[in-house]
Amino acid sequence: MKILVTGGTGFIGSHTCVELLDAGFEVVIIDNLYNSKADVVDKIESITGKKVSFYKSDCCDEDALDKIFNEHQIAAVIHFAGYKAVGESVAKPIMYYQNNLMSTLALCKVMAKHNCKRLVFSSSATVYGNPASVPIHEDFPLGPTTNPYGTTKLMIENILRDILISDDHWSIALLRYFNPIGAHKSGLIGESPNDIPNNLMPYIVKVANKELPYLHVFGNDYDTPDGTGVRDYIHVVDLAKGHVNAVEKVLNSTGIDAYNLGTGNGYSVLDVVKTFARVNNIEVPYQIDPRRPGDIAQCYASTDKAYKILDWKAEKGLEEMCKDSWHFLQMTKK
Ligand code: WQD
Repeated sequence: MKILVTGGTGFIGSHTCVELLDAGFEVVIIDNLYNSKADVVDKIESITGKKVSFYKSDCCDEDALDKIFNEHQIAAVIHFAGYKAVGESVAKPIMYYQNNLMSTLALCKVMAKHNCKRLVFSSSATVYGNPASVPIHEDFPLGPTTNPYGTTKLMIENILRDILISDDHWSIALLRYFNPIGAHKSGLIGESPNDIPNNLMPYIVKVANKELPYLHVFGNDYDTPDGTGVRDYIHVVDLAKGHVNAVEKVLNSTGIDAYNLGTGNGYSVLDVVKTFARVNNIEVPYQIDPRRPGDIAQCYASTDKAYKILDWKAEKGLEEMCKDSWHFLQMTKK
């Protein structure tokens, strides 16, 4: 059975392709390589020993999508492709709205044309905006979002709900990620943004590797145990396995539902910095800077629903996430 993975050479997409192949699915990737490299396809094939079909194309290009569906019998789609940096989205809203919305509309239009109506959508915990309390449950109010990135994710969730209302043959899973970090144990795939990282862990890794002088800690005056931002960091391999379970779910049902994919544990920026330094026995210099626009104090998941309905829960802890992130960097230096 073939699964189309948009953004499949990206950080979460590539790890999901590995787990899909290991679970016995065939994988077709479309990616424009805006934030990833083509050699990730070779690494996915090397890890799994299986072949992947790869199309270097943009998901906003309906003709490119049409070509894929003409050449492959796609059973379901996992839609990762999109810009995903909270901070960057505040500075570049038009780029985010145009790319994230237009790619999704093009994809759904072509899927419907080819009668492929099984979709797993890469949503985000940012759709909850600044939650009134934590842990966050899926039935919490959505929004108001605090940045354009999160707003695109919420808009797309609403678009997908409207598509289902128009045609109840659709089966859609909205996966609300918390903070994916870590890397595959092989060290062959991981998070390697093409420029200065926006996200915490890839920035820490570059500081540890002396590519950047120190980490800017964005604020230590939040209402959290140590004043720095608290997030639910989840190992990217755990997250990838959750997508396989979600694909099984959409292949065997109709309707739409949202699921938190997190660990249920909240860690502060300084927790991550200190854990990374300790388990890898390396220094991570940092300085406290002002808050970053669009950031919230705390965000971590209630994980009950994914466990009950998707039969999935995260298994890896922060120490393993930090070790695997550093191992990936060391492997890329070889
Ligand atoms: C984490 C914490 C920052 C960088 C992410 C993804 C987004 C979405 C939601 C999936 C915050 C602090 C960061 C730095 C810092 N995930 N920080 N210095 O903003 O929670 O959003 O999760 O859909 O795609 O971006 O993640 O890693 O940017 O920040 O102090 O250099 O680290 O303030 O508290 P964020 P992040």
